[in-house]
Amino acid sequence: MSGTSLDGIDAVLVDFAEEGKPVLVGSHSLPFSNSIRAEIALLCQPGQNEIDRMGELDRRLGQLFAQATNELIAKTSCPRARISAIGSHGQTIRHHPSRSSAFSIQIADPNTIAYLTGLKTVADFRRMDIAAGGQGAPLVPAFHDAVLRDRTENRVIINIGGMANITVLATGQPVTGFDTGPGNVLMDSWIQHRQSRNYDEDGNWAASGACDIALLDQLMSHPYIQAPAPKSTGRESFHLEWLKGVLTAFTHLGDADIQRTLLEFSALSIAETINNLDITFHRALLCGGGSHNSLLRSRIAALLPGIKVSTTTNFGIDADWLEAMAFAWLAKQRIEGGTGNVTTVTGAASPCILGGVYLPPPN
Ligand SMILES: Nc1ncnc2c1ncn2[C@@H]1O[C@H](COP(=O)(O)OP(=O)(O)O)[C@@H](O)[C@H]1O
Ligand SMILES: [Mg+2]
Repeated sequence: MSGTSLDGIDAVLVDFAEEGKPVLVGSHSLPFSNSIRAEIALLCQPGQNEIDRMGELDRRLGQLFAQATNELIAKTSCPRARISAIGSHGQTIRHHPSRSSAFSIQIADPNTIAYLTGLKTVADFRRMDIAAGGQGAPLVPAFHDAVLRDRTENRVIINIGGMANITVLATGQPVTGFDTGPGNVLMDSWIQHRQSRNYDEDGNWAASGACDIALLDQLMSHPYIQAPAPKSTGRESFHLEWLKGVLTAFTHLGDADIQRTLLEFSALSIAETINNLDITFHRALLCGGGSHNSLLRSRIAALLPGIKVSTTTNFGIDADWLEAMAFAWLAKQRIEGGTGNVTTVTGAASPCILGGVYLPPPN
């Protein structure tokens, strides 16, 4: 798995022997170099020579995803023959689920992954859902439903990656969920732009500034925030150039004030959405890299009065690896012929079997 944060590749080995209780056997992160990150970010916007750049990066990322897998296997010393399959989300470089010819593109060539690992590889998880009229995203809610639902309490899962998405697990009701808007992406972009650091650890830089209400209001007026579900978003809607455009009216603000306001924007767009759902939640469980940002976590908790806020780690699924585990689970669904999308989440006309299967050479 590699998400919109472009931090790197997360690889997990998961044992699904016990129904409903996946066991994380091993995990491994392969961070992207600055140059790969820059190349991916460049492909997330229209530009010259895109087809050649996409073709080459597709192969390079296929090699890196295979490397992450091989390093993980070496670390866990699990015999390769015991591994049924790889589920590879790939790297999203474009996501336009609401155009009349809707599409979503993930790269990291699965042929290359299968060839270099010798393992059956399932990839291209989003496009069948889009073919069925869905958003193709988010796909993790089905896994959240399978492993984090409780019979007695209403829960909301909040995954804070580059974008943020929520999954609603209300007792006696089908799972729903959608992207709320930006998670880390704007905070990451701003600190990269102003301080050449990858991310704002624990929100420390943000904490040194003050939230500006006028800028916050302006950010919250982005049409995506109030749009009805089903919906999903990406770097097409929330990116540095868009932010710079908004900031032309706020030249009086200091850089740290902007960072603090971007953090509040993520917290408020998540919390306001949850508070508007008309469901009494008992518990919110955070996951994804943003769950490590202590200021962001405390702002979300403060904006969700009456809801107990902790992380999925406290409920048996490691918050750092949950999304990668979800794609292992989706690969298992594909191989067993089960469906992977949730129509109440993506808006697809029907449940579908997601993903294509790529086989390594025999022997
Ligand atoms: N200690 C931390 N403090 C603040 N932010 C963090 C911390 N650890 C991780 N992050 C954030 O999490 C991001 C990675 O999250 P991840 O769940 O991998 O997102 P994605 O799925 O989009 O790749 C980093 O880019 C960073 O913004
Ligand atoms: Mg990541």
